[in-house]
Amino acid sequence: MEDTLESAGPTTKATAPNTALRESLAPSILIIFGITGDLSRRKLLPALYHLLKQDLLHENTEIVGISRDNIDVKDLLAKAELCIREENNICDPAVIKLLERKLHMYQMDLTKDEHYVQLREHLQGIEDRHGVCMNRLFYMSIPPVVYGPLVKNLGKHGLNGSCKHGRAESRLLIEKPFGYDYKSAVELIGEMAEYFQESQIYRIDHYLAKETVQNILTFRFRNPVFRPLWSREYISKIEIVATETIGIEGRAAFYEPVGALRDLIQSHLLQLLAVTTMDRPSDLNSNEIHEAKLRLLESVQQIPADKLSERAVRGQYDTYKAEVNNPHSVTETFAAIKLFIDDERWQDVPIIIKTGKALSEKKTAIHVCFRHPLDKEHTNTLTFAVQPSEGIAIDLWVKKPGFDRELQTASMDFSYQRTFEDEGHPDAYERVLVDAVRGDRTLFATSDEVLAAWRIIEPAVEAWGKNDEGMQTYKSGSAGPATFPETDTNAAI
Ligand code: BG6
Repeated sequence: MEDTLESAGPTTKATAPNTALRESLAPSILIIFGITGDLSRRKLLPALYHLLKQDLLHENTEIVGISRDNIDVKDLLAKAELCIREENNICDPAVIKLLERKLHMYQMDLTKDEHYVQLREHLQGIEDRHGVCMNRLFYMSIPPVVYGPLVKNLGKHGLNGSCKHGRAESRLLIEKPFGYDYKSAVELIGEMAEYFQESQIYRIDHYLAKETVQNILTFRFRNPVFRPLWSREYISKIEIVATETIGIEGRAAFYEPVGALRDLIQSHLLQLLAVTTMDRPSDLNSNEIHEAKLRLLESVQQIPADKLSERAVRGQYDTYKAEVNNPHSVTETFAAIKLFIDDERWQDVPIIIKTGKALSEKKTAIHVCFRHPLDKEHTNTLTFAVQPSEGIAIDLWVKKPGFDRELQTASMDFSYQRTFEDEGHPDAYERVLVDAVRGDRTLFATSDEVLAAWRIIEPAVEAWGKNDEGMQTYKSGSAGPATFPETDTNAAI
Protein backbone atom coordinates (compact mmCIF):
# COMPACT_ATOMS: atom_id res chain seq x y z
CA MET A 1 0.00 0.00 0.00
CA GLU A 2 1.52 3.26 -1.07
CA ASP A 3 -0.21 5.77 1.11
CA THR A 4 -1.65 4.52 4.37
CA LEU A 5 -2.98 7.89 5.38
CA GLU A 6 -5.11 8.14 2.28
CA SER A 7 -6.36 4.62 2.55
CA ALA A 8 -7.30 5.12 6.19
CA GLY A 9 -9.69 7.82 5.04
CA PRO A 10 -13.43 7.70 4.55
CA THR A 11 -13.30 5.63 1.37
CA THR A 12 -12.34 2.54 3.38
CA LYS A 13 -15.62 0.82 4.07
CA ALA A 14 -16.47 -2.80 4.51
CA THR A 15 -19.37 -2.61 2.10
CA ALA A 16 -17.52 -0.81 -0.69
CA PRO A 17 -16.76 -2.87 -3.81
CA ASN A 18 -13.10 -3.26 -2.71
CA THR A 19 -12.01 -4.11 -6.25
CA ALA A 20 -8.44 -2.88 -5.86
CA LEU A 21 -8.17 -4.71 -2.57
CA ARG A 22 -9.33 -7.99 -4.13
CA GLU A 23 -6.81 -7.62 -6.91
CA SER A 24 -4.02 -7.28 -4.34
CA LEU A 25 -4.86 -10.59 -2.66
CA ALA A 26 -2.73 -13.59 -3.47
CA PRO A 27 -3.42 -17.32 -3.23
CA SER A 28 -2.45 -18.25 0.32
CA ILE A 29 -2.34 -21.05 2.85
CA LEU A 30 -2.98 -19.81 6.34
CA ILE A 31 -1.51 -22.24 8.84
CA ILE A 32 -2.83 -21.53 12.35
CA PHE A 33 -0.87 -22.93 15.27
CA GLY A 34 -3.19 -22.90 18.27
CA ILE A 35 -6.43 -23.17 16.29
CA THR A 36 -8.31 -24.46 19.36
CA GLY A 37 -7.19 -21.54 21.56
CA ASP A 38 -9.03 -18.53 22.88
CA LEU A 39 -7.76 -16.08 20.25
CA SER A 40 -8.75 -18.33 17.41
CA ARG A 41 -12.21 -18.93 18.87
CA ARG A 42 -12.90 -15.25 19.61
CA LYS A 43 -11.03 -13.39 16.87
CA LEU A 44 -9.39 -15.39 14.07
CA LEU A 45 -12.19 -17.73 13.04
CA PRO A 46 -14.80 -14.91 13.20
CA ALA A 47 -12.47 -12.72 11.12
CA LEU A 48 -12.12 -15.48 8.53
CA TYR A 49 -15.90 -15.95 8.47
CA HIS A 50 -16.39 -12.21 7.76
CA LEU A 51 -13.65 -12.09 5.13
CA LEU A 52 -15.21 -15.01 3.30
CA LYS A 53 -18.60 -13.37 3.56
CA GLN A 54 -17.27 -10.21 1.96
CA ASP A 55 -15.30 -12.16 -0.59
CA LEU A 56 -12.06 -10.72 0.75
CA LEU A 57 -9.91 -13.81 0.46
CA HIS A 58 -8.44 -15.02 -2.81
CA GLU A 59 -10.45 -17.95 -4.19
CA ASN A 60 -7.34 -20.09 -3.82
CA THR A 61 -7.14 -19.79 -0.05
CA GLU A 62 -6.75 -22.71 2.30
CA ILE A 63 -6.73 -22.70 6.09
CA VAL A 64 -4.83 -25.38 7.94
CA GLY A 65 -5.63 -25.63 11.64
CA ILE A 66 -2.80 -27.25 13.56
CA SER A 67 -3.64 -29.13 16.70
CA ARG A 68 -2.08 -31.85 18.78
CA ASP A 69 -5.47 -33.55 19.06
CA ASN A 70 -7.80 -34.95 16.50
CA ILE A 71 -10.44 -32.24 16.20
CA ASP A 72 -13.46 -32.13 13.96
CA VAL A 73 -13.89 -28.90 11.97
CA LYS A 74 -17.63 -28.72 12.71
CA ASP A 75 -16.97 -29.07 16.47
CA LEU A 76 -14.30 -26.39 16.30
CA LEU A 77 -16.57 -23.95 14.46
CA ALA A 78 -19.45 -24.67 16.83
CA LYS A 79 -17.30 -23.41 19.71
CA ALA A 80 -16.12 -20.26 17.91
CA GLU A 81 -17.86 -16.90 18.30
CA LEU A 82 -18.33 -16.71 14.55
CA CYS A 83 -21.37 -14.56 14.18
CA ILE A 84 -21.61 -12.32 17.22
CA ARG A 85 -21.48 -9.30 14.92
CA GLU A 86 -24.32 -10.63 12.78
CA GLU A 87 -27.93 -9.68 13.37
CA ASN A 88 -29.31 -11.86 16.17
CA ASN A 89 -26.01 -13.80 16.10
CA ILE A 90 -27.25 -15.78 13.13
CA CYS A 91 -24.61 -17.10 10.74
CA ASP A 92 -25.04 -17.24 7.00
CA PRO A 93 -25.16 -21.00 6.27
CA ALA A 94 -23.53 -20.58 2.84
CA VAL A 95 -20.53 -18.82 4.41
CA ILE A 96 -20.24 -21.48 7.10
CA LYS A 97 -20.19 -24.14 4.37
CA LEU A 98 -17.46 -22.26 2.55
CA LEU A 99 -15.44 -21.92 5.74
CA GLU A 100 -15.83 -25.64 6.42
CA ARG A 101 -14.59 -26.36 2.91
CA LYS A 102 -11.55 -24.15 3.22
CA LEU A 103 -10.55 -25.09 6.76
CA HIS A 104 -9.10 -28.45 7.54
CA MET A 105 -7.37 -29.72 10.60
CA TYR A 106 -3.86 -31.08 10.68
CA GLN A 107 -2.65 -33.06 13.66
CA MET A 108 0.96 -32.64 14.68
CA ASP A 109 3.31 -32.65 17.64
CA LEU A 110 5.41 -29.48 17.50
CA THR A 111 8.35 -31.21 19.16
CA LYS A 112 8.73 -33.90 16.50
CA ASP A 113 11.05 -33.28 13.56
CA GLU A 114 9.35 -35.74 11.27
CA HIS A 115 6.04 -33.89 11.71
CA TYR A 116 7.54 -30.77 10.13
CA VAL A 117 8.74 -32.82 7.16
CA GLN A 118 5.21 -34.16 6.77
CA LEU A 119 3.75 -30.68 7.13
CA ARG A 120 6.00 -29.43 4.34
CA GLU A 121 4.80 -32.24 2.08
CA HIS A 122 1.22 -31.54 3.09
CA LEU A 123 1.54 -27.86 2.10
CA GLN A 124 3.25 -28.84 -1.12
CA GLY A 125 0.31 -31.17 -1.81
CA ILE A 126 -2.15 -28.29 -1.38
CA GLU A 127 -0.21 -26.18 -3.85
CA ASP A 128 -0.03 -29.03 -6.34
CA ARG A 129 -3.77 -29.51 -6.07
CA HIS A 130 -4.40 -25.83 -6.76
CA GLY A 131 -1.71 -25.75 -9.40
CA VAL A 132 -0.48 -22.37 -8.14
CA CYS A 133 2.24 -21.06 -5.95
CA MET A 134 0.77 -19.93 -2.64
CA ASN A 135 1.93 -17.66 0.16
CA ARG A 136 2.31 -19.57 3.38
CA LEU A 137 1.27 -17.62 6.42
CA PHE A 138 2.25 -19.26 9.69
CA TYR A 139 0.05 -17.75 12.39
CA MET A 140 1.43 -18.29 15.90
CA SER A 141 -1.49 -18.20 18.24
CA ILE A 142 0.41 -20.20 20.85
CA PRO A 143 2.19 -19.45 24.15
CA PRO A 144 5.20 -17.19 23.53
CA VAL A 145 7.63 -19.72 25.06
CA VAL A 146 7.01 -21.91 22.02
CA TYR A 147 7.84 -19.20 19.41
CA GLY A 148 11.59 -19.78 19.41
CA PRO A 149 11.57 -23.59 19.04
CA LEU A 150 8.70 -23.52 16.51
CA VAL A 151 10.38 -20.95 14.28
CA LYS A 152 13.62 -22.89 14.44
CA ASN A 153 11.84 -26.08 13.38
CA LEU A 154 10.04 -24.34 10.54
CA GLY A 155 13.37 -22.98 9.33
CA LYS A 156 15.27 -26.23 9.78
CA HIS A 157 12.73 -28.11 7.70
CA GLY A 158 12.61 -25.67 4.83
CA LEU A 159 9.28 -24.10 5.69
CA ASN A 160 10.75 -20.60 5.56
CA GLY A 161 11.35 -20.42 1.82
CA SER A 162 9.23 -19.55 -1.13
CA CYS A 163 7.36 -22.26 -2.97
CA LYS A 164 8.74 -24.13 -5.93
CA HIS A 165 7.92 -21.41 -8.48
CA GLY A 166 9.76 -18.95 -6.31
CA ARG A 167 7.16 -16.19 -6.37
CA ALA A 168 5.25 -16.67 -3.14
CA GLU A 169 6.59 -16.08 0.32
CA SER A 170 6.47 -17.73 3.72
CA ARG A 171 5.47 -15.26 6.42
CA LEU A 172 5.32 -15.48 10.18
CA LEU A 173 2.44 -13.83 11.99
CA ILE A 174 3.30 -13.50 15.64
CA GLU A 175 1.19 -12.43 18.57
CA LYS A 176 2.74 -10.41 21.37
CA PRO A 177 4.44 -10.42 23.80
CA PHE A 178 7.63 -10.47 21.75
CA GLY A 179 9.87 -11.56 24.58
CA TYR A 180 9.42 -10.92 28.30
CA ASP A 181 11.99 -8.14 28.64
CA TYR A 182 14.63 -6.37 26.54
CA LYS A 183 17.13 -9.20 26.73
CA SER A 184 14.73 -12.00 25.82
CA ALA A 185 13.32 -9.88 22.99
CA VAL A 186 16.85 -9.45 21.56
CA GLU A 187 17.31 -13.23 21.77
CA LEU A 188 13.97 -14.00 20.16
CA ILE A 189 14.58 -11.54 17.35
CA GLY A 190 18.01 -13.11 16.80
CA GLU A 191 16.57 -16.64 16.71
CA MET A 192 13.93 -15.66 14.18
CA ALA A 193 16.44 -13.77 12.05
CA GLU A 194 18.41 -16.99 11.57
CA TYR A 195 15.64 -18.41 9.43
CA PHE A 196 13.32 -15.57 8.44
CA GLN A 197 14.11 -12.14 7.06
CA GLU A 198 12.61 -9.14 8.82
CA SER A 199 10.38 -8.58 5.77
CA GLN A 200 8.81 -12.01 6.34
CA ILE A 201 7.90 -11.31 9.97
CA TYR A 202 4.54 -9.74 10.82
CA ARG A 203 4.41 -8.84 14.52
CA ILE A 204 0.77 -8.29 15.23
CA ASP A 205 -0.37 -5.34 17.26
CA HIS A 206 -4.10 -5.45 16.77
CA TYR A 207 -4.46 -1.91 18.15
CA LEU A 208 -2.65 -0.57 15.10
CA ALA A 209 -5.19 -2.37 12.95
CA LYS A 210 -8.12 -0.67 14.64
CA GLU A 211 -9.85 1.76 12.30
CA THR A 212 -9.84 4.47 14.99
CA VAL A 213 -6.07 4.20 15.43
CA GLN A 214 -5.42 4.51 11.71
CA ASN A 215 -7.58 7.58 11.78
CA ILE A 216 -5.21 9.29 14.23
CA LEU A 217 -2.68 9.60 11.41
CA THR A 218 -5.29 10.82 8.99
CA PHE A 219 -6.55 13.35 11.51
CA ARG A 220 -3.07 14.63 12.30
CA PHE A 221 -1.66 14.81 8.81
CA ARG A 222 -4.72 15.64 6.71
CA ASN A 223 -6.12 18.47 8.81
CA PRO A 224 -3.75 21.40 8.55
CA VAL A 225 -5.59 23.25 11.31
CA PHE A 226 -4.02 21.13 14.05
CA ARG A 227 -0.52 20.82 12.63
CA PRO A 228 0.99 24.00 14.06
CA LEU A 229 -0.50 23.22 17.48
CA TRP A 230 1.11 19.78 17.78
CA SER A 231 3.97 20.54 20.15
CA ARG A 232 4.91 21.53 23.68
CA GLU A 233 4.10 25.11 22.87
CA TYR A 234 0.37 24.34 22.88
CA ILE A 235 0.06 20.89 24.41
CA SER A 236 0.49 20.52 28.16
CA LYS A 237 -0.04 16.79 28.56
CA ILE A 238 -1.07 13.63 26.74
CA GLU A 239 -2.94 10.79 28.41
CA ILE A 240 -3.36 7.37 26.91
CA VAL A 241 -5.87 5.24 28.77
CA ALA A 242 -7.03 1.69 28.16
CA THR A 243 -9.25 0.32 30.87
CA GLU A 244 -11.12 -2.96 30.80
CA THR A 245 -13.99 -4.32 32.86
CA ILE A 246 -13.00 -7.92 32.28
CA GLY A 247 -10.44 -9.68 34.43
CA ILE A 248 -8.08 -12.23 32.97
CA GLU A 249 -10.90 -14.49 31.82
CA GLY A 250 -9.29 -17.74 32.87
CA ARG A 251 -6.02 -16.98 31.04
CA ALA A 252 -3.87 -17.46 34.15
CA ALA A 253 -1.08 -19.32 32.34
CA PHE A 254 -0.76 -16.50 29.82
CA TYR A 255 -1.21 -13.59 32.21
CA GLU A 256 0.81 -14.57 35.29
CA PRO A 257 4.24 -14.14 33.63
CA VAL A 258 3.04 -11.10 31.65
CA GLY A 259 1.03 -8.53 33.63
CA ALA A 260 -0.43 -5.21 32.52
CA LEU A 261 2.84 -3.44 31.76
CA ARG A 262 3.92 -6.05 29.22
CA ASP A 263 0.45 -7.01 28.02
CA LEU A 264 -0.79 -3.58 26.98
CA ILE A 265 1.78 -0.87 27.62
CA GLN A 266 4.88 -2.40 25.99
CA SER A 267 2.91 -3.07 22.82
CA HIS A 268 -0.43 -1.42 22.15
CA LEU A 269 -0.13 1.73 24.22
CA LEU A 270 3.42 2.69 23.30
CA GLN A 271 2.39 2.22 19.68
CA LEU A 272 -0.51 4.61 20.31
CA LEU A 273 1.97 7.06 21.80
CA ALA A 274 4.17 6.79 18.70
CA VAL A 275 1.27 7.35 16.33
CA THR A 276 0.08 10.35 18.34
CA THR A 277 3.42 12.12 18.69
CA MET A 278 5.70 11.06 15.82
CA ASP A 279 6.84 13.58 13.24
CA ARG A 280 5.12 13.62 9.90
CA PRO A 281 6.99 11.13 7.70
CA SER A 282 8.48 12.68 4.57
CA ASP A 283 6.70 10.09 2.47
CA LEU A 284 3.63 8.26 3.62
CA ASN A 285 4.70 4.72 2.85
CA SER A 286 5.22 1.81 5.22
CA ASN A 287 8.98 2.29 5.65
CA GLU A 288 8.77 5.98 6.35
CA ILE A 289 5.97 5.51 8.85
CA HIS A 290 7.99 2.83 10.66
CA GLU A 291 11.04 5.07 10.68
CA ALA A 292 9.10 8.00 12.10
CA LYS A 293 7.61 5.80 14.83
CA LEU A 294 10.99 4.37 15.68
CA ARG A 295 12.60 7.81 15.93
CA LEU A 296 9.91 8.80 18.35
CA LEU A 297 10.12 5.65 20.49
CA GLU A 298 13.88 5.97 20.66
CA SER A 299 13.59 9.49 21.95
CA VAL A 300 11.27 8.55 24.82
CA GLN A 301 13.22 8.66 28.09
CA GLN A 302 13.59 5.37 29.85
CA ILE A 303 11.69 5.39 33.17
CA PRO A 304 14.54 6.17 35.59
CA ALA A 305 15.18 3.24 37.95
CA ASP A 306 15.64 5.62 40.88
CA LYS A 307 12.34 7.40 40.20
CA LEU A 308 10.08 4.42 39.84
CA SER A 309 7.94 5.36 42.80
CA GLU A 310 7.15 8.73 41.17
CA ARG A 311 6.85 7.52 37.61
CA ALA A 312 5.20 4.12 37.81
CA VAL A 313 2.15 2.85 39.71
CA ARG A 314 1.00 -0.73 39.88
CA GLY A 315 -2.01 -2.51 41.30
CA GLN A 316 -3.68 -5.89 41.46
CA TYR A 317 -7.42 -6.48 41.72
CA ASP A 318 -8.61 -8.00 44.95
CA THR A 319 -9.66 -11.41 43.65
CA TYR A 320 -6.69 -11.94 41.33
CA LYS A 321 -4.49 -14.10 43.58
CA ALA A 322 -7.34 -16.53 44.21
CA GLU A 323 -8.19 -16.59 40.50
CA VAL A 324 -4.67 -17.61 39.49
CA ASN A 325 -4.31 -19.79 42.55
CA ASN A 326 -1.07 -18.11 43.57
CA PRO A 327 -1.16 -16.35 46.97
CA HIS A 328 2.29 -14.85 46.27
CA SER A 329 1.59 -13.47 42.80
CA VAL A 330 3.33 -10.13 42.11
CA THR A 331 1.69 -9.76 38.70
CA GLU A 332 0.14 -6.33 38.20
CA THR A 333 -3.32 -6.12 36.65
CA PHE A 334 -3.11 -2.31 36.66
CA ALA A 335 -0.17 -0.19 35.54
CA ALA A 336 0.35 3.51 34.98
CA ILE A 337 3.56 5.22 33.91
CA LYS A 338 4.63 8.79 33.36
CA LEU A 339 7.00 9.36 30.44
CA PHE A 340 8.82 12.25 28.81
CA ILE A 341 10.05 12.57 25.26
CA ASP A 342 13.52 13.95 24.75
CA ASP A 343 13.08 16.07 21.69
CA GLU A 344 12.51 19.70 20.95
CA ARG A 345 8.87 19.25 20.09
CA TRP A 346 7.83 17.41 23.27
CA GLN A 347 10.39 18.36 25.92
CA ASP A 348 8.82 18.36 29.43
CA VAL A 349 5.33 17.40 28.25
CA PRO A 350 4.18 14.62 30.59
CA ILE A 351 2.78 11.55 28.89
CA ILE A 352 0.59 9.47 31.16
CA ILE A 353 -0.17 5.91 30.11
CA LYS A 354 -2.61 3.89 32.15
CA THR A 355 -4.23 0.49 31.81
CA GLY A 356 -5.99 -2.01 34.01
CA LYS A 357 -8.31 -4.97 34.17
CA ALA A 358 -11.43 -5.44 36.32
CA LEU A 359 -12.09 -1.70 36.35
CA SER A 360 -15.38 0.15 36.23
CA GLU A 361 -15.29 0.98 32.53
CA LYS A 362 -14.14 -0.45 29.18
CA LYS A 363 -12.56 2.45 27.38
CA THR A 364 -9.52 3.22 25.24
CA ALA A 365 -8.87 6.88 24.59
CA ILE A 366 -6.11 9.38 23.98
CA HIS A 367 -6.58 12.80 25.55
CA VAL A 368 -4.47 15.61 24.17
CA CYS A 369 -4.64 18.47 26.66
CA PHE A 370 -3.99 21.95 25.29
CA ARG A 371 -2.63 24.72 27.47
CA HIS A 372 -3.92 28.22 27.90
CA PRO A 373 -1.03 30.66 28.23
CA LEU A 374 -2.77 32.74 30.91
CA ASP A 375 -5.77 30.90 32.17
CA LYS A 376 -5.18 27.42 33.62
CA GLU A 377 -8.85 26.69 33.96
CA HIS A 378 -9.99 27.30 30.44
CA THR A 379 -8.02 24.78 28.48
CA ASN A 380 -9.18 22.46 25.72
CA THR A 381 -8.95 18.70 25.42
CA LEU A 382 -8.97 16.76 22.20
CA THR A 383 -9.98 13.13 22.61
CA PHE A 384 -9.42 10.24 20.25
CA ALA A 385 -12.02 7.72 21.40
CA VAL A 386 -10.48 4.48 20.19
CA GLN A 387 -13.27 2.34 21.65
CA PRO A 388 -16.16 2.14 22.40
CA SER A 389 -18.25 5.05 21.00
CA GLU A 390 -15.51 5.51 18.42
CA GLY A 391 -14.82 9.04 17.33
CA ILE A 392 -12.82 12.22 17.83
CA ALA A 393 -14.01 15.11 19.97
CA ILE A 394 -12.75 18.45 21.17
CA ASP A 395 -14.11 20.24 24.19
CA LEU A 396 -14.59 23.93 23.51
CA TRP A 397 -15.61 26.76 25.78
CA VAL A 398 -18.85 28.40 24.73
CA LYS A 399 -20.94 31.20 26.15
CA LYS A 400 -24.04 29.96 27.89
CA PRO A 401 -27.13 31.62 26.39
CA GLY A 402 -28.32 34.49 28.56
CA PHE A 403 -27.41 37.97 29.72
CA ASP A 404 -24.34 36.89 31.70
CA ARG A 405 -20.96 35.91 30.36
CA GLU A 406 -21.10 32.48 31.84
CA LEU A 407 -19.02 29.81 30.12
CA GLN A 408 -19.52 26.13 29.73
CA THR A 409 -17.87 23.39 27.74
CA ALA A 410 -19.44 21.92 24.64
CA SER A 411 -18.11 19.10 22.56
CA MET A 412 -17.49 19.32 18.83
CA ASP A 413 -17.36 15.74 17.86
CA PHE A 414 -17.10 13.27 15.05
CA SER A 415 -18.72 9.94 15.77
CA TYR A 416 -18.20 6.90 13.56
CA GLN A 417 -21.71 5.76 14.23
CA ARG A 418 -23.31 9.06 13.19
CA THR A 419 -21.05 9.72 10.23
CA PHE A 420 -20.81 6.27 8.74
CA GLU A 421 -24.11 4.91 10.07
CA ASP A 422 -24.51 1.30 8.94
CA GLU A 423 -21.38 1.10 6.88
CA GLY A 424 -19.46 -0.71 9.60
CA HIS A 425 -15.73 -1.19 9.43
CA PRO A 426 -13.43 -4.17 9.39
CA ASP A 427 -12.52 -5.71 12.68
CA ALA A 428 -8.83 -5.37 13.60
CA TYR A 429 -8.17 -9.07 12.96
CA GLU A 430 -9.76 -8.93 9.51
CA ARG A 431 -7.35 -6.12 8.73
CA VAL A 432 -4.40 -8.05 10.16
CA LEU A 433 -5.17 -11.08 7.97
CA VAL A 434 -5.82 -9.11 4.80
CA ASP A 435 -2.63 -7.07 5.21
CA ALA A 436 -0.56 -10.20 5.84
CA VAL A 437 -2.02 -11.82 2.73
CA ARG A 438 -1.22 -8.82 0.56
CA GLY A 439 2.19 -8.31 2.13
CA ASP A 440 1.58 -4.88 3.64
CA ARG A 441 3.61 -4.49 6.85
CA THR A 442 2.54 -0.93 7.67
CA LEU A 443 0.34 -1.89 10.60
CA PHE A 444 2.75 -4.42 12.13
CA ALA A 445 5.55 -3.69 14.61
CA THR A 446 9.15 -3.94 13.45
CA SER A 447 11.87 -5.57 15.56
CA ASP A 448 13.43 -2.16 16.20
CA GLU A 449 10.15 -0.75 17.46
CA VAL A 450 9.71 -3.74 19.76
CA LEU A 451 13.16 -3.23 21.26
CA ALA A 452 12.70 0.52 21.60
CA ALA A 453 9.49 -0.11 23.55
CA TRP A 454 11.16 -2.65 25.86
CA ARG A 455 13.98 -0.20 26.55
CA ILE A 456 11.55 2.46 27.79
CA ILE A 457 9.93 0.29 30.44
CA GLU A 458 12.87 -2.00 31.29
CA PRO A 459 13.61 -0.60 34.80
CA ALA A 460 9.97 -1.11 35.83
CA VAL A 461 9.87 -4.59 34.30
CA GLU A 462 12.99 -5.53 36.21
CA ALA A 463 11.98 -4.04 39.57
CA TRP A 464 8.38 -5.22 39.51
CA GLY A 465 9.38 -8.83 38.88
CA LYS A 466 11.39 -8.92 42.11
CA ASN A 467 8.81 -8.17 44.80
CA ASP A 468 5.49 -6.47 45.42
CA GLU A 469 6.82 -3.20 46.78
CA GLY A 470 4.31 -0.44 46.12
CA MET A 471 1.67 -2.83 44.77
CA GLN A 472 -1.81 -1.51 45.54
CA THR A 473 -4.78 -3.80 45.85
CA TYR A 474 -7.93 -2.41 44.27
CA LYS A 475 -11.51 -3.54 44.31
CA SER A 476 -12.78 -5.24 41.16
CA GLY A 477 -15.14 -2.91 39.36
CA SER A 478 -13.59 0.23 40.89
CA ALA A 479 -11.64 3.02 39.18
CA GLY A 480 -8.34 1.45 40.28
CA PRO A 481 -5.44 3.06 42.18
CA ALA A 482 -4.83 6.81 42.05
CA THR A 483 -2.03 7.69 39.66
CA PHE A 484 -0.19 10.99 39.22
CA PRO A 485 -2.19 13.73 40.94
CA GLU A 486 0.24 16.55 40.15
CA THR A 487 -0.31 16.12 36.42
CA ASP A 488 -4.07 15.81 36.78
CA THR A 489 -4.76 19.51 36.24
CA ASN A 490 -7.04 19.14 33.27
CA ALA A 491 -6.97 15.37 33.31
CA ALA A 492 -9.67 13.25 31.86
CA ILE A 493 -8.57 10.04 33.55
C1 BG6 B 1 -4.81 -8.14 24.15
C2 BG6 B 1 -4.44 -8.43 25.57
O1 BG6 B 1 -3.68 -7.85 23.38
O2 BG6 B 1 -5.69 -7.02 24.12
C3 BG6 B 1 -5.67 -8.69 26.42
O3 BG6 B 1 -3.59 -9.58 25.61
C4 BG6 B 1 -6.63 -7.53 26.29
O4 BG6 B 1 -5.32 -8.89 27.77
C5 BG6 B 1 -6.89 -7.22 24.82
O5 BG6 B 1 -7.83 -7.88 26.94
C6 BG6 B 1 -7.72 -5.96 24.68
O6 BG6 B 1 -8.05 -5.81 23.33
P1 BG6 B 1 -9.29 -4.93 22.90
O7 BG6 B 1 -9.22 -4.90 21.42
O8 BG6 B 1 -10.51 -5.63 23.44
O9 BG6 B 1 -9.11 -3.61 23.54
